[in-house]
Amino acid sequence: MPGRILIVDDDPAMTELLRLDLAHRDFTPVCADSAEAAFQLLGQQPFDVVLTDLAMPGMGGIELCDRIAANHPDLPVVVLTGFGSLETAVAAIRSGAYDFVTKPVDLDLLHLVINRAARHHELQEQVRTLSAAVERSQRFETLLGASPAMQRLFDELARVAALDTQVLITGENGTGKELAARALHARSPRAHGPFIAVNCAALPHNLLESELFGHVRGAFTDARSARSGLFAEAAGGTLLLDEIGDFPLELQPKLLRVLEQRTLRPVGADREVPFDVRVIAATNRDLQTAIEERRFREDLFFRINVIQIELPPLRARGTDVLLLAQHFVDHFADRLHKPVTGISQPVAERLLAYAWPGNVRELRNAVERAVALTQREKLVVEDLPERIRAYRSAELSLGGENPGELATMEEVERRYIRHVLNAAAGNKTVAARILGFDRKTLYRKLERYGIETESN
Ligand SMILES: Nc1ncnc2c1ncn2[C@@H]1O[C@H](COP(=O)(O)OP(=O)(O)OP(=O)(O)O)[C@@H](O)[C@H]1O
Ligand SMILES: [Mg+2]
Repeated sequence: MPGRILIVDDDPAMTELLRLDLAHRDFTPVCADSAEAAFQLLGQQPFDVVLTDLAMPGMGGIELCDRIAANHPDLPVVVLTGFGSLETAVAAIRSGAYDFVTKPVDLDLLHLVINRAARHHELQEQVRTLSAAVERSQRFETLLGASPAMQRLFDELARVAALDTQVLITGENGTGKELAARALHARSPRAHGPFIAVNCAALPHNLLESELFGHVRGAFTDARSARSGLFAEAAGGTLLLDEIGDFPLELQPKLLRVLEQRTLRPVGADREVPFDVRVIAATNRDLQTAIEERRFREDLFFRINVIQIELPPLRARGTDVLLLAQHFVDHFADRLHKPVTGISQPVAERLLAYAWPGNVRELRNAVERAVALTQREKLVVEDLPERIRAYRSAELSLGGENPGELATMEEVERRYIRHVLNAAAGNKTVAARILGFDRKTLYRKLERYGIETESN
């Protein structure tokens, strides 16, 4: 995500080098030869990242950091510091800098840091405007999603909804399969009819048959009265056979016949009766494997799989995670009567980094819990369940706004030592000299921070 970068340095050779490199990497660089000029430009044009030298005549880099923190608090500043000057780097971070890169500049590293800063800026903007984004976000009935994956799904659902054909909905746990089935029903000509969902895995095998197809009075010992069955109850509407992968094998031939002939015979009855139901099946199982393992009949599979709709896992939906989180915050804040309005940026980072094995349901539960527990207006990382909280992206930033999120001095030192070592091409004698440590101290720190190096 290329962005507009303001480069501030009084050294024209340096600004030119950085400008060319950043332009080459698809950024839009703008140069200023003093902090004063930079500050003025900031009032006139939007930027995504500021990259500034520290030592300049007139206003220095630290003061520029201070003034940007005061006047453009969301704008990340990356400072260029000399080797061996951990103190100035720390002073810059304290003045609100987002991160630092040491000179001589490793352009690849600089590129990484600027990208991260630009991403940080973009995410901040996104988090601030989440409520509005939810308001104008695309929906398909109650399904919410703006990602390309979800847009494709909505297109597919829209095309299939009007057809009275057999649909198989697949997807991992909690991806919204039932919601998709309800949406198909709501958009179909059968919308005025009933929608009935039955969980094929939840019923004992012997009950499932009469539950679905009904039975006549006296059909079996407990059948004191006749029961019409779900196919009959769903007449004129839609029947969702959920967890079809768990449909009992011995009952599969009967279901196949029912779907092919569009008539059914209630348990104990001697006549077939027609039914008028659209059948949708859903499963989180890989039916191909079930077929290979002879737990699922292939002929039934072809019958129910006329059109397959696959729900993408949440981790494939990009920033939909944030949209859904905001949606659930609104929902639960309202329901629990709590004045919670959204999420903080560090929470957004965690939600984007986490893999969501339980998909939307897991997110919904996490947000419900967080809204119930939180003391804040915007959810903070501490409100998240441990497994999600633990999921911080490997690239911890040094300049956060949340006190709970800031790196410790040790973390700064660890990163700086690693950085110097890289710059010194792994030469520990050189690195120790730059850092102002004797070799023994450096070795102790390397061991303590678990920094791996080639031995030299
Ligand atoms: N795109 C979405 N927008 C809004 N809410 C959603 C979306 N997808 C899922 N949900 C919500 O997430 C929860 C899980 O959805 P649903 O029950 O439809 O999933 P599922 O795929 O049937 O899950 P399972 O495989 O566990 O049966 C529900 O509370 C649902 O309302
Ligand atoms: Mg379900």
